[in-house]
Amino acid sequence: MSLPAKPGNPSPTDLKEPFSRRLFIRFNLCGVAGLFVGTFVQTIRYLIPNVLFEPPRVFSVGTPDRYTEGSVTFLAKHKVFMVHDDRGFHAISSTCTHLGCTVNSAEGGFDCPCHGSKFDPKGQVKKGPAPKPLQWFETRLAENGELVVDTTKTVGQDFSLKLT
Ligand code: FES
Repeated sequence: MSLPAKPGNPSPTDLKEPFSRRLFIRFNLCGVAGLFVGTFVQTIRYLIPNVLFEPPRVFSVGTPDRYTEGSVTFLAKHKVFMVHDDRGFHAISSTCTHLGCTVNSAEGGFDCPCHGSKFDPKGQVKKGPAPKPLQWFETRLAENGELVVDTTKTVGQDFSLKLT
């Protein structure tokens, strides 16, 4: 319970201005400080380059004994199929040439789950809408005895790494 104001003296509510000059200056200082902080943060952010980390395009896929003859092994991390057939080893891209979906190994080749393209075991288009065959990448044997796939170099479908 508050005491009644004495006549001639201002009541406590009379002393409070709804928006004093001091409050106005405080708001402005906060706004200016916020502007400086925001500018500083954006400047620092601008100085840090936007770097897109991509997986390496030349990579080891392990030793040849990992892939038994007749196998088609999907290497999800690298988006390639490692194929070991009677001709040798080769790497086929799992990226559909239509709109880039990842194809699945299927009976009789590869199927794209997105729009129904089908590829034969060599990656040739059996059914569209894919316009081109799946890419083949250069495969070689490194000095340490591991297979290396180089996705920067495409090869023809007659390519095969034969190990003696
Ligand atoms: S992305 Fe493969 S058929 Fe469209």
